[in-house]
Amino acid sequence: KPAVVGGGDPRDFVARMKAGKKRLVIFYGSQTGTAEEYAIRIAKEAKSRYGLASLVCDPEEYDFENLDAIPEDCAVIFVMATYGEGEPTDNAVQLMQNLEDPDFNFSKGEHRLDGLKYVVFGLGNKTYEHYNLIARKTDAKLEEMGATRLGPRGEGDDDKAMEEDYLEWKEQMWPALAEALNVEEGAGGDTPDFVVTEEIHPDEKVFLGELSARALNKTRGIHDAKNPYPAPILATRELFRVGGARNCVHIELGIEDSGIHYQHGDHVGVWPTNPEIEVDRLLHSLGLWERRATTINIISLDPMLAKVPFPVPTTYETVLRHYIDISAVAGRQTLGILSKFAPTEESKEKMIKLATDKEHYHRIVAEGCLRLGQVLQYVTGHDILTPPTAQNTTAWSIPFEVIVSCIPRLQPRYYSISSSPKYSPKAIHVTAVVLKYESIESPDVPARWIYGVGSNLLLNLQYAHKSMQKNDPEEPMIAEPVELERSHVPHYAINGPRGAYNVDSIYKVPIHVRRSTFRLPTNPRTPVIMIGPGTGVAPFRGFVQERVTLAERTIAKHPETGISDWGTMWLFYGCRGANEDFLYKEEWPKYAEVLGDKFSMHVAISREGPRKPDGSKIYVQDLLWQQRDQIREALVDKKGYVYVCGDAKNMSKAVEHVLMRILGEAKPGGTAAVEGQKELNALKEKSRYLTDVWS
Ligand code: 2AM
Repeated sequence: KPAVVGGGDPRDFVARMKAGKKRLVIFYGSQTGTAEEYAIRIAKEAKSRYGLASLVCDPEEYDFENLDAIPEDCAVIFVMATYGEGEPTDNAVQLMQNLEDPDFNFSKGEHRLDGLKYVVFGLGNKTYEHYNLIARKTDAKLEEMGATRLGPRGEGDDDKAMEEDYLEWKEQMWPALAEALNVEEGAGGDTPDFVVTEEIHPDEKVFLGELSARALNKTRGIHDAKNPYPAPILATRELFRVGGARNCVHIELGIEDSGIHYQHGDHVGVWPTNPEIEVDRLLHSLGLWERRATTINIISLDPMLAKVPFPVPTTYETVLRHYIDISAVAGRQTLGILSKFAPTEESKEKMIKLATDKEHYHRIVAEGCLRLGQVLQYVTGHDILTPPTAQNTTAWSIPFEVIVSCIPRLQPRYYSISSSPKYSPKAIHVTAVVLKYESIESPDVPARWIYGVGSNLLLNLQYAHKSMQKNDPEEPMIAEPVELERSHVPHYAINGPRGAYNVDSIYKVPIHVRRSTFRLPTNPRTPVIMIGPGTGVAPFRGFVQERVTLAERTIAKHPETGISDWGTMWLFYGCRGANEDFLYKEEWPKYAEVLGDKFSMHVAISREGPRKPDGSKIYVQDLLWQQRDQIREALVDKKGYVYVCGDAKNMSKAVEHVLMRILGEAKPGGTAAVEGQKELNALKEKSRYLTDVWS
């Protein structure tokens, strides 16, 4: 809860604006923190560019009815993410209701916002149907109520180039806003948000990767996104490895005695760690190598605008390793900010060119997948391929507070949980393909393998866990990977020194559970159709385990009737080869033994076996079509549920299309496509068509 400033109601944002002489209020609808980050960036830029102070607000923490009481010389900025099927983020549900409800009165007693100056930036993803719906609705409602839009509405596409969309939008928005508020560019100073000081603190008070005060003090408390649980790794398996390029790992994370509960279909957030080579690279490039373990404290100069984004006191290397995202491709704006600290005229020019020339930036940094440390090396003419040392890096004198201000916090990576709590109450299972792709070469930088920071960590954990168990004859040994970016595994050792890399202790990884609505119907008589090729099968392993456990209990209780009145569980799965990447191949027959004819699995093996008459591959959607009569019966007559998990771009769309045809054909009259679309929409409305898709 926000503290009261100058007395008064802490939920009254207008009073706070007046008390703090703030002329901008920025509301963010944020689920995972991205919209919040953009909101903070807008506030910072308002200050540095125009000298405008802002109030950045989580709409949940304020009373929205005061929106009509904002003084005339002020403006409001909405940064709104659209979530799932065109829904607002959790913290914006109330705000959207207020905007959309004609009976909702603002403080002056009307559903009007005449003269209110506003700006909207939306965050969405074009692969989903309702692209940026929430931002569009916000904009439309405000306009309807008489408010005045300053500059165009911005729409960021998470699937393509959110950052570029944002940069493009803000360059048009700022001049319009400045004119409306009558402020001049250049009125702001370059005031940093934080002060970093080197201090001495007792060892036990220094954060070395822990994500909350509770984790450091080992005090008990609930585990959530604000206080992740360091889960011990209980078991790991490499499910498959295709060539050198595709690995898939299975990891079991212990939750016994943690107080964490989960359901089938939930997601687990895994808090990653940056690769060591990037940590070293920045320590050298920032001239902090010798002082890497020095304890630092960070305080915010304006806690309302910018909270210190991670726990302190800590050390330089911990910040780079565990707390800020130095593994992402360096942002164009960050390069602009850092250009003034370039060590030579030549490097400064190169840096400015990258920051201002969009094409050049795209070619070198975006396509070349250069991380910040690599850009710093690149513009000073060093080779980025050899491990960083004092010899092949030039130290820039960038104040650490600038680094903390301009690099976002490292965010958790979410995975669909692949187990059921009934079947596996003490461990959460994760099934993940390790993301690995090749960067595009440029004249100075050759093509390299790029790993996703989250799945690279999982792969690291799996090798680390295996290497500890080398002496266990039960555990088959697998070869070390040739290429892998070593992450410093935060294992909060039981025996070893806290935070140190120590292979003799138990590996732990910070996790929390995120609830989802991707759930089986409670009544097992309802048939379910699950479609999940590739790692899309992960949640369905949990679904099947859930019903297997329930079936075992039911059969034990009622041996006569058993599960004879249950609905069928259909599983449509796809992989490349029967002996290549068939996930959990040995487990499915075991589940089938319990469920009998109530489990019906159909596998599309795309690179072996038969093809369609035109020579194209057979995929899950083709198998659905083959079973269309039964699918139709399960969905229409027996009121079944459909679940789709996996690739959002092609697969989920193709599946939707086939289902549309199947449902449409059942309807006499009209065209199959139109009728099918109606049926499908009806299923979606009744929450009987559920998706967990990613791009
Ligand atoms: P492919 O790689 O042989 O094309 C898991 O990745 C499985 O999903 C693979 O068998 C893959 O086939 C298949 N797949 C690829 N594109 C697909 C699509 N558009 N629809 C359904 N399955 C697809």
